Amino acid sequence: MNGGRELISLVAEMQDLTQYRKENWTGTFEEYLDLVRDDPKITRNAFQRVYDMIISHGVETYESSRQETRSHYTFFDDPIENGKDGVFGLDDSLEQFVNALKSAAHGYGIEKRVLLLHGPVGSSKSTIARMLKKGLEVYSASDEGAVYTLGWKHEDVEEIDWCPMNEEPLHLVPMSYRSRLEQEFNSKDGLDYEVKIRGDLDPYCRFMYNERMKQHDGDWTKVIKDIRIKRVIFSEQDRVGIGTFQPKDEKNQDSTELTGDINYRKIAELGTDSDPRAFNFDGEFNVANRGIIEFIEVLKLDVAFLYDLLGASQEHKVKPKKFAQTDIDEVIIGHTNEPEYRRLQNNEFMEALRDRTVKIDIPYVTKLSDEIKIYEKDYNSERVKGKHIAPHTIEVAAMWAILTRLEEPNNAGLTLLQKLKLYDGKTLPGFTEENVLELRSEVNREGMQGISPRYVQDKISNALVRYPDANSINPFMVMNELEAGLKHHSLINNEDLRGRYRELLQVVKEEYENIVKNEVQRAIAADEDALKRLCANYIDSVKAYTQREKVKNKFTGQYEEPDERLMRSIEEKIDIADSRKDDFRREMMNYIGALSIDGKSFDYKTNERLYKALQLKLFEDQKDTIKLTSLVSNVVDQETQAKIDVVKSRLIRDHGYDDESATDVLNYVASIFARGDVKPDG
Ligand SMILES: Nc1ncnc2c1ncn2[C@@H]1O[C@H](COP(=O)(O)OP(=O)(O)OP(=O)(O)O)[C@@H](O)[C@H]1O
Ligand SMILES: [Mg+2]
Repeated sequence: MNGGRELISLVAEMQDLTQYRKENWTGTFEEYLDLVRDDPKITRNAFQRVYDMIISHGVETYESSRQETRSHYTFFDDPIENGKDGVFGLDDSLEQFVNALKSAAHGYGIEKRVLLLHGPVGSSKSTIARMLKKGLEVYSASDEGAVYTLGWKHEDVEEIDWCPMNEEPLHLVPMSYRSRLEQEFNSKDGLDYEVKIRGDLDPYCRFMYNERMKQHDGDWTKVIKDIRIKRVIFSEQDRVGIGTFQPKDEKNQDSTELTGDINYRKIAELGTDSDPRAFNFDGEFNVANRGIIEFIEVLKLDVAFLYDLLGASQEHKVKPKKFAQTDIDEVIIGHTNEPEYRRLQNNEFMEALRDRTVKIDIPYVTKLSDEIKIYEKDYNSERVKGKHIAPHTIEVAAMWAILTRLEEPNNAGLTLLQKLKLYDGKTLPGFTEENVLELRSEVNREGMQGISPRYVQDKISNALVRYPDANSINPFMVMNELEAGLKHHSLINNEDLRGRYRELLQVVKEEYENIVKNEVQRAIAADEDALKRLCANYIDSVKAYTQREKVKNKFTGQYEEPDERLMRSIEEKIDIADSRKDDFRREMMNYIGALSIDGKSFDYKTNERLYKALQLKLFEDQKDTIKLTSLVSNVVDQETQAKIDVVKSRLIRDHGYDDESATDVLNYVASIFARGDVKPDG
């Protein structure tokens, strides 16, 4: 352990003084004009800045089905906090969102709208808003994202009165000189955006400006001499450039929270309430100027403030009490959940709002592997110390969540579970990619209803604390929690729905049974030497069969007919019908032949279907010698126990179990076998 001095020098090494000095740079108005000339993008408006911030983290394009190009914006993986808030599986929605920002950045009209994130509860709307705010904070502190504002230097005291709304310093330029100045700046080549000086000084700066103009007899150049410029580093905590508004109960809403309030102490000093120096420009709209304001549950906003909101988005103006309209420059993001939105569908509030919003649907994830990622982010061996999470625990929870969100397919021959697998990119015999697209297009509200990730997260958490004596949590513990919670779920208000969710839990249980049965079977059959022998025998027979030859018996040296019974007993395991066996055998020989032309030798593991067939066959041959079912009766002889231990160690080695969860799963599968349904399926 280091002592105090070492610790301080450790910090000294880490701190970045150049960066600190950059962030705390101050200069004159003249210097600011130089900065703008060198790098006009420092005058970007809020939409341009937010859009560029997202793009600065990179875009990956990929081809979705039907050869469409999709974009994945790395920013939404949350690179800033190592993925803490990263969202999964929402590329479509996020692309729509970024496109809206892009259009706003270019001034095509969307800059006059509220960006409304709309989706079911717990679909990551707040998470997305949080990332944007955080991203903009970090961006404003970088060279690329630098923002500046102005302040008023006093003649006598060393103090500077900074603009209360962190305005763009170019607002100091009177209307009549602006286009000339813009022309200068825009003569530079390769600008992403043209410099446009939009908006006037806020009431406070306007007051100061007029005072100084009087003092200098209308000489603007003299007024400008006492202007100071500084960097603005956005920070939600310091209430700079980032605002959040959350409606409280209706009686308590007060417009001063949005547009600022009179400072009564200052009124006493100054003797009037219309002096802007006696006003605190600290409402959320004021604070968020140049950056982002987030309206949480925007539809709960009192109608009285609706017009503040609409004016702010449409005109980019707010009206502080007692003062004229004041210009603002900020991205307005609202969110609302689906039930609330539907409830207000026909209300006048909505009419007014609907017209002035760009609604972006943020649905639930409908792809199993994405949903699993949501939970693995919180429940992994890093985060959950001292408890093992048995294989498939997260998977079954995610599977159930997705099932509750999916609409029944029109095709009666397709189960909901099969639909889930197709969505997840699995192949099912008889279904093409085209079919999957059809499935996706035949739905109405898919992803807008069902169980939220938050519910599942809560139940996994419950399961983690509910069994203090267990070293691991397993799928049953979680499924029990998921089921028990349904009784009290506030958003499920009818018995039918509750019943349906229970049925779906049953579907998941059956699927889980299949998964672990398969896994145990494979562990029993994971005897490499035996598999290799079996494979060699099979291939010998197939070769002889396809070439109409005989097989040499290694033991007797005699030539015999190929072993039809052996071949069929393997092929049947993967549903090769008798009529298809010739094709399959020829296919195998071609495969092996092609390999040998490339100078490669055949390894059964590289052919997934054959591998599976061999494992199932080996399992069938061995299951009686292993006597797994004896686990159920509690009398296990030493020899059986030794064999079971081998299987257990394979489960641990190959499938991610620990001792406890492997024992559990073996007992469970033994009980299934004891029930008699040993037919392997897959
Ligand atoms: N697509 C997703 N990717 C990653 N995490 C997600 C996703 N969807 C939901 N979550 C997780 O679900 C939880 C709820 O998210 P969040 O609070 O952002 O939802 P919300 O849409 O704001 O909900 P509400 O409507 O109730 O306010 C968070 O832990 C979030 O990380
Ligand atoms: Mg939220």
